[in-house]
Amino acid sequence: MISRRGFVLGGAAAGTLALSPSAAGPMPRSLDTLPADAPVRPFSLLAKEMEVPLLGAGKPATRHVCAYNGTPLLRVRARRGTRLKVDFRNQLPDPTTVHWHGVRVPYLSDGVAPITQEPIPPGASFAYDVPLPDPGFYFFHPHCDETGQVGRGLVALLLVDDPAEEKVPFDLEHVIVVKDWRLGEDGQFLDMFTNDGAATAGTFGTVRATNGRVLPPRVAAPAYGDVRVRAIVADSTRVIDFGCDTEDAAILACDGQAIPPVRLDKVPDGVWRMGPAQRLDVHVRMPGPGAEVKIYDYRTAEPYLLTTLVAVDKGKKKRPFKPLALPIAKEVPQADLTRAKRLDFLVQTAAGAIAVAPPLPPGDPLAKALIDSLCVGDKTFWAINRNSWGAGADLRLPPPLDELHDGESYVLSIANVTKHPHPMHLHGHIFRVLSSSRKKGVPQYLADTVLVEPNESVEIAFKATSGDWVFHCHILEHMDSGLMGWFRIT
Ligand code: C2O
Ligand code: CU
Repeated sequence: MISRRGFVLGGAAAGTLALSPSAAGPMPRSLDTLPADAPVRPFSLLAKEMEVPLLGAGKPATRHVCAYNGTPLLRVRARRGTRLKVDFRNQLPDPTTVHWHGVRVPYLSDGVAPITQEPIPPGASFAYDVPLPDPGFYFFHPHCDETGQVGRGLVALLLVDDPAEEKVPFDLEHVIVVKDWRLGEDGQFLDMFTNDGAATAGTFGTVRATNGRVLPPRVAAPAYGDVRVRAIVADSTRVIDFGCDTEDAAILACDGQAIPPVRLDKVPDGVWRMGPAQRLDVHVRMPGPGAEVKIYDYRTAEPYLLTTLVAVDKGKKKRPFKPLALPIAKEVPQADLTRAKRLDFLVQTAAGAIAVAPPLPPGDPLAKALIDSLCVGDKTFWAINRNSWGAGADLRLPPPLDELHDGESYVLSIANVTKHPHPMHLHGHIFRVLSSSRKKGVPQYLADTVLVEPNESVEIAFKATSGDWVFHCHILEHMDSGLMGWFRIT
């Protein structure tokens, strides 16, 4: 098993877009999110398969692990205000693309096949122009056979630092990547997509892991010191309830966007629920020498240990806990709620009638774009407002969910009428989560992905930016089986 459809390369990929297959550029100035003279950082990125002992020493190594630059779950750091000039090479046996999740890039760099580019065939290169206008905690991953490639490890973190943050006196930063592995007894990957999973909560891994390893990390931290814990759910399926066994903890940022600190014991149940793609920054104050702080996923019947922080004496003195606030970035465009237009979306199962929306007009640049079988699944279980992405045999790109206007403000109401939670992600925008019909007492926050629970409706607001942007569930099998649409913003 390499990929369900990696061998189909050719016919289906042809004729998707009139873009150059080798580069996202030239970037029209009007779409750029940084000044033309912003510092440039060349960045070579290579996707390749490798063999990794995922189950640990003494167990069979796993073949066909997908990684960027030879490091599964690679971490990349950059400064806010830089522009990454990415020279990407695909050495996987399958086509791929790179999507910069949460980063306000011009849409031509968004990496979404077939909307912003064609899939990059094995052996080919692609140049991405990736401005980083906002500090934050981002990640990147393919947007083509995501279920298979992300499932096999093709995810990298992108931490964009703000110089103003350096003044916040943390003693330690600890990153937690929640991502299970879906392996058989022989240590080899099982199929990532199952019909039963895709039609329900998603197909779970068989082995839980933190930072790629089966044993949760044990990390030494100064007693009475301040740790910045940065967690991401990079799994294709799993939803967690992030929490810890100390009261001295506070949420500092959601999806990398700082908020005034909220003590974790003040949010409902003392946990923060996070679906695939969501990130959280938390300040943890360490206890006295020798004591430990345990960070858990409390969603499972038996809490699952994500990390143990062990306090070691470094001469720090005990003092009352006061959360360390992160600077709030001002660059993110904000919606004007007094003039925002409201749009309503229903996340639903595809059972029953699927609206056959009129195709794009023949003159549209994307009229010929096919949702080729390289990049999405062939089953349809989910829909947004009765439209499914690539429903059945119709490989044509569906028309946009709506046509919006650049610079205008919108409030999206997203109602989930299914039995499963859906982490909904809008590309190219950082939105404000305004309210939820179920969660009360949660402050507003900025995010790029919001978890919408069964029978919940959530309102988000954003200021629209030009481009063709997808809006989808980040449970990857849901997205691959219909739960995706797109907005055209002009
Ligand atoms: Cu990380 Cu389209 O998503
Ligand atoms: Cu979903």
